Amino acid sequence: MSFKSALMKAKQGEELCKKDIMYLLSADGREQKTLFGLADEMRYKNCGDVVHLRGIIEFSNCCRRDCYYCGLRCSNDKVERYRMEEDELIEATVGVKEIGFYTVVLQSGEDSYYSAEMLSRVIKAVKGDGSIAVTLSIGERIEKEYRLFKDAGADRFLLKHETSDEKLFKRLRRGMELKERLECLKILKRLGYEIGSGNIVGLPGQTLESIAEDILLFQKLEVDMVGIGPFIPHPDTPLGCCARGSLELTLKVLAVTRLVLPKANLPATTAIATLHQSGYELALNCGANVIMPNLTPMKFKNKYQIYPNKKGSDLEAAKLTQKILDIINSMGRKAS
Ligand code: 5AD
Ligand code: SF4
Repeated sequence: MSFKSALMKAKQGEELCKKDIMYLLSADGREQKTLFGLADEMRYKNCGDVVHLRGIIEFSNCCRRDCYYCGLRCSNDKVERYRMEEDELIEATVGVKEIGFYTVVLQSGEDSYYSAEMLSRVIKAVKGDGSIAVTLSIGERIEKEYRLFKDAGADRFLLKHETSDEKLFKRLRRGMELKERLECLKILKRLGYEIGSGNIVGLPGQTLESIAEDILLFQKLEVDMVGIGPFIPHPDTPLGCCARGSLELTLKVLAVTRLVLPKANLPATTAIATLHQSGYELALNCGANVIMPNLTPMKFKNKYQIYPNKKGSDLEAAKLTQKILDIINSMGRKAS
């Protein structure tokens, strides 16, 4: 009964409260199918059949942070660290434009080797005639730097809040505070960026209630994009022996996020595709409308191991793009 009334509220565009969201996230069997169906319908009504492609370049796997869940954490001395130089990075993004992408995502660990001036030069060079949107995913910086990047032409910024559970956040991201991360998102929004957040589903110690709060936080932050992925344990981290996040729950979080934010850009994430062979299809069928292929040059690609066996790590840019286009076309959807 409670699932039904929550679903009905969502269908009629009524605001969902935390309890409603928890009922929806607890759906199984037939209910789950109904939930995915409604999310797919909402996606179609609000975003149509277009799947937006955004090419990611992971330009440095160096990170000053020590997140317990992440393979790139600074304490992991098994990682062979790399940094792309300025010209190399510009060249790689030109390659992304040539394949036909309209958006490039420049992603890295939190790496202060790249000064604000240096990154601004890269952004300006990449923007060139303005035919490509530039998204940054480089972690927390001070307001002045975020402003420089914006002035240089950056359009969007991804900064996942990871978990809205303050205590869990503090425990898993030693030395970092949820409040500071949320402050960064507010600053970015104020500076005129389109902002993206996201969470990890199935972190050890995470509750269903806190996942519901994650979804309400996406709504409160008025994000344009939400990246939702399952936790995948990395053996060289303190959480290496923990259970991975559930695919089903991740898909339900995606579907409910579509109901709460009908117009948001929701990627079928690489983490979902890593967990299941048909992960992209499953996600595209329950609310997702974006795919972000990893176009990092081959010599660096398998060194960006946030979690092991990342989907697409073995494929060169053009081949991976083609594979993803085939998936989109086979589903009767259109790539942008
Ligand atoms: N499993 C899933 N996602 C992870 N991330 C980091 N470590 C993991 C993991 N073990 C995600 C975080 C971060 C992004 C770079 O990767 O959400 O924002
Ligand atoms: Fe660094 Fe991000 Fe990994 Fe944390 S999750 S260690 S900030 S790359």
